[in-house]
Amino acid sequence: MLETINQTADYLKGKIGDIPNTAIILGTGLGELVHEIEGKNEIPYAEIPNFPVSTVEGHSGKLIVGTLGGKKVLAMQGRFHYYEGYDMKQVTFPIRVFQALGIEYLFVSNAAGGMNPSFDIGDIMLIEDHINLFPEHPLHGKNYKQLGTRFPDMSEAYSRELRLMAMEIAKEKNIKLQHGVYVGAQGPTFETPAEYNFFRIIGGDAVGMSTVPEVIIANHAKMKVLAFSIITDLGVIGKIVEVSHEDVQEAAKIAQPKMAEIMRSIIRKI
Ligand code: HPA
Repeated sequence: MLETINQTADYLKGKIGDIPNTAIILGTGLGELVHEIEGKNEIPYAEIPNFPVSTVEGHSGKLIVGTLGGKKVLAMQGRFHYYEGYDMKQVTFPIRVFQALGIEYLFVSNAAGGMNPSFDIGDIMLIEDHINLFPEHPLHGKNYKQLGTRFPDMSEAYSRELRLMAMEIAKEKNIKLQHGVYVGAQGPTFETPAEYNFFRIIGGDAVGMSTVPEVIIANHAKMKVLAFSIITDLGVIGKIVEVSHEDVQEAAKIAQPKMAEIMRSIIRKI
């Protein structure tokens, strides 16, 4: 496993040159943020040794190197979902490669269903914490000391420092920012009304099919994480309507310039 990670990192070092300190994962419908990245160099996942290849519509599958907020960043356009059939080691492989490259900050975005009754479609939720409901843990199995500790602390999985910066910037720029707990579920079904209700009762504000595995590995790797959910549909009793992947992509597209604005401002400061 270590050799595979290092082989991919070495390949990317040759392609990227100076290594940025920040990597961004762009979720469903949020790939447009790449248009805000200047001086882009794109590396399709298919060309990266050992990288899985993304299959879902709306995830074009490439690594982008360029400038955002005046700083060099690495962005993943498209991620690997558990529901696609990848195991958790594959889902989180890019994070291991980021770790090997020396990335310090991981910014994550996703589309999610909102269970909090005060949420509206198009809201941006700053993720404060998560509940892991995936059936497989990304750290299951042998622990490599070089990668992190056997029993990682998760008391601040989402950096308080970065969250405070995000809140400050949102206030400054008049961007409505919700905050809450993200429930990571395996999908690919959207939730039944009873499941949304269950996720609300256990403490969730939003639910989605990604993010949690990557954030666990980023914490194992001691990276600082900042993550946002775009609320693309509502799992609030009385407001639940039929939802499709296309609806989710549409809603995400509308909110993404605001999320990009927050990310860009933070990147400028770190
Ligand atoms: N549930 C799970 N994943 C999602 C949802 C949802 O309602 N919306 C977008 N991704």
